[in-house]
Order: sequence, then C-alpha cells, then structure tokens
Amino acid sequence: MSMARKDLLGLRGVSREEIAEILDTALTMRKVVRSSNKKTAHLQGKSIVTLFYENSTRTRMSFELASKYMSAASANISASASSVQKGETLIDTGVTLDQMGTDVIIIRHPMSGVPALLAQNVRAHVINAGDGMNEHPTQALLDMMTMREHLGGLEGAKVAICGDVSHSRVARSNIYGLTAMGASVVLCAPPTLMPVRIDELGCTVAPTIEDACEGADVVMGLRIQRERQQKGLFPSVAEYCDHWEITPARLALAKPHALVMHPGPMNRGVEIASSAADSPQSVIAQQVESGVSVRMALLYLLTRREG
Ligand code: CP
Repeated sequence: MSMARKDLLGLRGVSREEIAEILDTALTMRKVVRSSNKKTAHLQGKSIVTLFYENSTRTRMSFELASKYMSAASANISASASSVQKGETLIDTGVTLDQMGTDVIIIRHPMSGVPALLAQNVRAHVINAGDGMNEHPTQALLDMMTMREHLGGLEGAKVAICGDVSHSRVARSNIYGLTAMGASVVLCAPPTLMPVRIDELGCTVAPTIEDACEGADVVMGLRIQRERQQKGLFPSVAEYCDHWEITPARLALAKPHALVMHPGPMNRGVEIASSAADSPQSVIAQQVESGVSVRMALLYLLTRREG
C-alpha cells in the first residue's frame, strides 16, 4: 500500500490505510528529528514553497524545518510581501510558482476551499496547511500520531474535543481522521459555537464539558478564535471559563492518565487552565515534535514516486 494522491487537501475521505502509512512513516522520520545530524536525502532535488495568507508559528516553521531536514530547496511567501498586494490572483501566483519548478506548495488561507482551487490549477502537489473553517489535515495527523503513541492505538479511544468547534478546522480534520481510525469523538461547546447537525460527521455532541470528559482517553482544547467570530457568541470570558474551560477538576472525570492536548496557540485561562496545560498529563509539547515528523512523512510520501 502506498499513497497515490497528488495533494492532501483534507482528511475527509482519506482511508485508514493511508493515515496509518503516514503515521508509520512519521515514526521513522522522528528518528531524524531526534538525532544530532538532522539531514537526510529524501527530498534532495525537490523544491518546496510555503504560501501563507494567515499567521502561523507551528505549521509554517515545521514544514520549513521538515523540508530542510530532508535536503529540499525551500522558500516562504507571505501574502503581505507578495504580488497579491498588487492584485495578482491566487491562481496566477500558483502558476508562477509552477513555472519556477516548485514541486510542493503548502498553503494556508482564510477562505475555505482555496487549497482545492489551487490544486486544480497547478502541477505541483498542494498541501492544505489550514483553510478557513474547513480543514487542517496535518494538525489532525500530528494529533493522531501523539495519541497513538501514548494510547497504544486509536481503535476504541474516546476523544473529547472542547471549545470553539464552529470555527475550528482542527476539529473537522480530527473528526474525519479519528473516526476513520476507529476512535469515537465527542464534542462540547456552548450552543452558539457548535454547528448544527455536526453529528452527521460521525461524532456525538455532549451537553456539558463534564459529560464530554467523563471516561475520555483524550481531552483536547480548541482555541477561542476571536478573529473569526462576530461579537456576542458568548457573554464574557469569565462566563465561558465557568462553563467550558478545561480545568484539573474536569480532567479528573476522564480516565486516569488521560491525555491533555491543544493544537496551539493557547489562550491560557480561557479554553484551558495553565494548571491543565502544564500538568503531567499534558502532551502539548510533544504535539509540536510530532508536527515536524508528520510533515516530513507527508512530503516524502507525496513526492517519492517522482525520482
Ligand atoms: N496549530 C497551528 O496551526 O498553529 P499555528 O497557527 O502556529 O501554525
């Protein structure tokens, strides 16, 4: 079994076998990340461009390091410094990168569907690094890599995802990925931050954070995305914390040693208390390490049949 797709635009429709192949390959790549000589020839001769129309620390940097560790030529374009500012269309930017011999374009964009549009118009492989409220597939892959290691597998695991589900591309990709791997996903959020009929994606919705945490193997927080919200979706930060913050008391309802996760960046004291984020159960730092390994694996698997 080997990955045969041109692009990775989301985890919707990605098979259990494909996800397992990426996670298995990422484990091998992690040896490179942990070694004192972070250099392999897996991407020698390839060129990788990160095209980010939104801010990022983790995703952009881990793709750039993954490219460098595997000997690719890598470059970054941020929207503020590109010809987008002069009115160039996204497709014209993509075709320009194609003409320069770019092998992989990694794109983050505030509008859902933009990576798919780009992928239809360029020869290069396209990886979605987060599009609007749609998907963030590499985040979910690194989350699953981290969970799989600690839980010994994903089949039958109960994952509680708590926070701003409405605006969360991380939640959507995790729902697709985790359910494909046989895990069960339970969501909780204030009703104003929970999409109607989201259960049709194969997850369940808990009425309270206490219900969601009960017996969970993993409790994952989601960032309150103030930049994507209209005003008034919850009365105040204090009231949000009272009802929905991940705290040690709520974590105590989960299984002993349940994992605490968050994709970052965190709003400490809003969706997650520092005492939970920094607890011995927290694997938030390990999620970042998994991010480099997963992105190395994906870049390798997408390009490896091209010599
Ligand atoms: N989790 C995540 O996507 O973080 P960045 O916005 O820093 O890339």
